[in-house]
Amino acid sequence: MSVRTVLRMGDARLQRVAAPVRDFGGEELRELLRDMCDTMEALNGVGLAAPQIGVGLRVVIFGTPPAQDNGQNLRYPDADAVPYTVLVNPVITPLGEQYEEGWEGCLSLPGLRGVVPRFLHIRYQGHDEYGALIDRTVSGFHARVVQHECDHLDGILYPMRMTDMSRFGYTAELFPGREVQDE
Ligand code: NI
Repeated sequence: MSVRTVLRMGDARLQRVAAPVRDFGGEELRELLRDMCDTMEALNGVGLAAPQIGVGLRVVIFGTPPAQDNGQNLRYPDADAVPYTVLVNPVITPLGEQYEEGWEGCLSLPGLRGVVPRFLHIRYQGHDEYGALIDRTVSGFHARVVQHECDHLDGILYPMRMTDMSRFGYTAELFPGREVQDE
């Protein structure tokens, strides 16, 4: 088990465009994914992108890791369950023009939340850790998580997507009295 340090907004490595993975099934990718999964689980996150632990590759993970899939995520207890997914070299295609606003947090901005507009319906394609194709059409929270994580691969953090900075702040102030995780 190897929990890695998550880089925080302001670190230049979070603003770089990550490189595609070319070697599937190798030990390097396997180790990266193990560390990412351990880190996301330890911080109770709903997603993590490789650049957040300082690795400039187009790899994201999201959803509830199988080990703790009890249908609940402490950061987003109301969210529909998103299956644990390893997504490599992802491509997102918006389906329609419809946007939806929703609160987001990020392990690279601990303690903060903001309202971000995202496409409501998307198709995403990519590969799993073995190179097998993934091709899904999703909506709502699942679509939001994928858009958020894939943005990390292009150096984009969620505040850069916000259109109303009056709905950005510290979780403890935004949602007083509600028990929320630090992240
Ligand atoms: Ni994030």
